[in-house]
Formats: sequence, C-alpha cells, structure tokens
Amino acid sequence: MPRSSRLARFSILHPPRRAVSIGALKNDPANSPVLTFADLKHWPFRGTALAVLGHPIKHSLSPLMHNTALTGLAQDDPRFTDWGYFRFDVPPDELPQVLRRLHGCGFHGLNLTVPHKILAVREVVEIDPAARLVGAVNTLRRTTAGWHGFNTDGYGLAAAVRETLGLELADRHVVLLGAGGAARGAAVECLQRGCAALWIANRTAANLAALLDALRPAAHGIPLRGFAPDAPPADLPEEALVINATSAGLRADDPAPVDLARLPRPAGVYDMIYNPPLTPLLRAARDLGLPQANGLAMLVHQGAKALEIWSGVPAAQTAPLMAGALAANN
Ligand SMILES: NC(=O)c1ccc[n+]([C@@H]2O[C@H](COP(=O)([O-])OP(=O)(O)OC[C@H]3O[C@@H](n4cnc5c(N)ncnc54)[C@H](OP(=O)(O)O)[C@@H]3O)[C@@H](O)[C@H]2O)c1
Repeated sequence: MPRSSRLARFSILHPPRRAVSIGALKNDPANSPVLTFADLKHWPFRGTALAVLGHPIKHSLSPLMHNTALTGLAQDDPRFTDWGYFRFDVPPDELPQVLRRLHGCGFHGLNLTVPHKILAVREVVEIDPAARLVGAVNTLRRTTAGWHGFNTDGYGLAAAVRETLGLELADRHVVLLGAGGAARGAAVECLQRGCAALWIANRTAANLAALLDALRPAAHGIPLRGFAPDAPPADLPEEALVINATSAGLRADDPAPVDLARLPRPAGVYDMIYNPPLTPLLRAARDLGLPQANGLAMLVHQGAKALEIWSGVPAAQTAPLMAGALAANN
C-alpha cells in the first residue's frame, strides 16, 4: 500500500478542529494532540489504539515514550506498524463513561495517571492481585468483557533502583518516605520482593497509621515500622535504601522530606520525582557523597512493562527505546 493511502487509513479527522494521523504521531511523538471525550464520538482510527488518560495530561511523557518504542518495534515487526498511542484529558467525573467508550471504540490498552489510578479500580472487570493490594491501577488491557487492571509502578521502581543504584529490594532495609498512592505501591513491591525490613516516614501521622494498617496483612513477618520524619528511630540500620515517594521536591521551595544527615549512612537514595531532576533530597544525597537517582528510570520501566502487557514484547527490549526518546527530548 502506498505510504499516503496507508496514512490516510489511520487519519482521525475532526473537521474543522484537527486532523491527527498515525504518521504525525510517529514523526512528532512529543507533541501528540490532547484529545477529549468528544473526540471519541466518531473514532475512525482502525489501527491498534493505546492511550494515557489523566487530568491534566498535556505534560505527560508517555506518548513520546510509547510512540518512539512502537516506531522502533515496527522496524522489525510489521505487526506494530499501525499501533498508535494517544493522550486524553479526562476529568475524574468522566472516567467511567470514557472507559466504556474507549472499550466500545476498540482500544487495546490504556495507561492511567493522576487522578485516575485509584478511581479506575472500581471500573475494571478483572484485577491483578498485586494491583488489588496496592489499591490502584496504572495499566488496563482490553478483554471481551471490559478492562483488566494492572499496576506496573512497583515493577518500574524495582527495575529503576537496580539499574541506577545497583541495588535489589530483596533483603534490603528500606526507608520509605510518604504514605500516599506512590508510597503504597512502593511498599507492596518491597514486601513482595522480600525486603529485610520496611521503615516508613510520613509528615501526617494519621496517613502513616492508615498505610501501616493496610500493609500489615502483606508483611508476612517482615518488620514494618513507622516514624515521624523529624524523629528517626535510633535503631535504623546503615546501608538502607531511601526511597522518596512524597511530592516534596516537585516545587523549588519544597523542603526535603527528611534530613538525610540524621539517618545512618544509606546505601543509596532514590527519588520518584523526575521533574525537577535534582530535588532538595537528591542534592543533599549528592552533598553527602551518596549514590542517588531521580524517578526518570522508574517512568521508563513502568511504561515498558505496560507495553509488555499489551504487546507481549519483553519490557527489557523496549525500555532502552523509551529511555532514548526521553534523553533525545531533553
Ligand atoms: N517516577 C514515576 O514513575 C512516578 C510514579 C508515581 C508517582 N511518582 C511521584 O511520586 C510522588 C507522590 O505521588 P502520589 O501519587 O503518592 O501522591 P499523593 O498520593 O498525593 O501523596 C503525597 C505524599 O507526599 C507527602 N507530601 C506532600 N507534600 C509534602 C511536603 N511538603 N513535605 C513532606 N511530605 C509531603 C504527603 O504527606 P501527607 O500524608 O503528610 O500529606 C503524602 O505522603 C509524586 O511526586 C509523583 O510525581 C513518580
């Protein structure tokens, strides 16, 4: 088929507002248009459609990562030539109807980001056991009956910590900062991988207590303790892995979520935040001469695992393509 007619087949036309083609997605994956529920009224894309849903969604790096990886895969496997990854801005109250509509339109897979990861648990017909424990899904795969939910954030964290710091969660003492959704996912991953002990610190004591209560059934004998960030326990061990799962550091004037100098010397510091690339916590780690890394690798590995769930292509094969896309975009 000539290139022009192939592209036309995959064109999404919304006269007079916009025209999106698979060619445009692949040639300029960083700038895939922001679509909404209205764009699903007449969805003419006949390729294999994937998408990320969020609110806001304009700054998501997922379309760039996935469309670059799909272009790379298509070079060796024609199966991926007509795969495209879109982005949709979906306010929380629209999520149920958008998910139903996307299923009706034939979408093959979805990613969910803020604020949908917890809300979507109610909307799936099947859920991976680990995602149920986390209470949040970030990846949905189409089944005939509806959506099957997964959570790839924990995998992304473990793979990122291994790649950037050379550390495994198994048998490692972990000091986890935060008690929100990301912390819960990280905690479940640490416990499931058999960490030596899990120490969780959070600014608001009530949120910390609720997280510890929720985690206890999954601890299976692994010591699980909470503490206030300004009062680290005296018996914290050396060589722990410190993971920041708070949002402290997203803004330039945020404080570090813990004073690293008050902890016994850690083996490494992983901050889930990637923008800005150097948070106050990572700057402190750097000044103390500690191995440290930001959340970019986690973003890549959770994305590669999602693509594996949709396509069957091992995450290890597409992660370098996604990482390359982010590096080139910088
Ligand atoms: N790299 C990745 O792929 C990836 C994936 C997922 C999430 N993340 C990042 O992880 C972070 C947390 O996300 P989330 O979904 O868990 O958010 P969340 O559910 O809103 O939880 C926010 C957490 O941060 C704490 N916090 C907020 N501001 C703070 C401050 N100024 N000082 C100390 N603690 C503060 C909150 O403590 P309180 O309980 O006291 O309010 C809470 O524990 C975000 O920065 C997100 O971008 C990255």
